Amino acid sequence: MDWMELIRGRRSVRAFRPEALTRAQIETVLEAARWAPSPHGRQPWRFAVVTTPAAKARLSAAMGAEWRRQLALDGQDEATIAARFRKSHERIVGAPAVIVPCLYLADLDAYPDPERQAAETTMAVQSLGCAVQNMLLAAYAQGFAGGWMCAPLFCQGAVRAALGLADTLAPHALIPLGYAAQEPVRRARRPLDELVVAWE
Ligand SMILES: Cc1cc2nc3c(=O)[nH]c(=O)nc-3n(C[C@H](O)[C@H](O)[C@H](O)COP(=O)(O)O)c2cc1C
Repeated sequence: MDWMELIRGRRSVRAFRPEALTRAQIETVLEAARWAPSPHGRQPWRFAVVTTPAAKARLSAAMGAEWRRQLALDGQDEATIAARFRKSHERIVGAPAVIVPCLYLADLDAYPDPERQAAETTMAVQSLGCAVQNMLLAAYAQGFAGGWMCAPLFCQGAVRAALGLADTLAPHALIPLGYAAQEPVRRARRPLDELVVAWE
C-alpha cells in the first residue's frame, strides 16, 4: 500500500466482526509501536494485551463501575448512563483483541524543578501517541483496524486492578483491534491552509 494511502485510509473502527486475530498479527502491531520515536529513545510505554473473554469482561466491568460513578456526578440520568455503558461494554468485549498502552516513566530523566519534570512527562505522553499511531497503521496495513478509547485515562486505578498491572504503569488508552464490522465513517479533515499558521 502506498504510504499516503495507508495514512489517509486508516480510520477509527468501533465495531468488529468476531474473527480472532492471530498472535502474529497482534505482535506485528506491537512491533510497530516499538519503533515509535520517544524522548531520549527511552520508550516510556508498556502494553497490556487482552484477548480472553474473561479478561475483557473484567476490564469493562471495572472501568464501567468508575465511569457510571463519574457520569452520575455529571448529573446524567440512569437510562443514559446504562445506554452509554452498554455501548462501551460491547465495544470492548466485542473486539477480538484489546491493547492497553501504559505510560512508564521510570526510565526518564529526573529534574529538581516541577516545570522540567512536567515537560519530561509531556514528552512521554506525546511519544505514547506516536506508538499508538504506529499500532493503528500496522493494523490497517494488515487488513484489520483499531480505534482509540481514552477511558482508561479516567480510571487508571481500576484498569490496573482489573489487569493486575504494577503501580508504575499508567494506563492511557484502550485500543480495540479486529476486522471492521462495517465501513467506518470517513471524517473529513481541515484544509492545510487552516492548520499551517506560519511559514516564512
Ligand atoms: C487521544 C485520543 C483520544 C480518543 N478517544 C476516543 C474515545 O474515547 N472514543 C472514541 O470513539 N474515539 C476516540 N478517539 C478517536 C477520534 O474520535 C478519531 O480519531 C477522530 O474522530 C478522527 O476519526 P478517524 O480516526 O476515523 O480518522 C480518540 C483519538 C485520540 C487521538
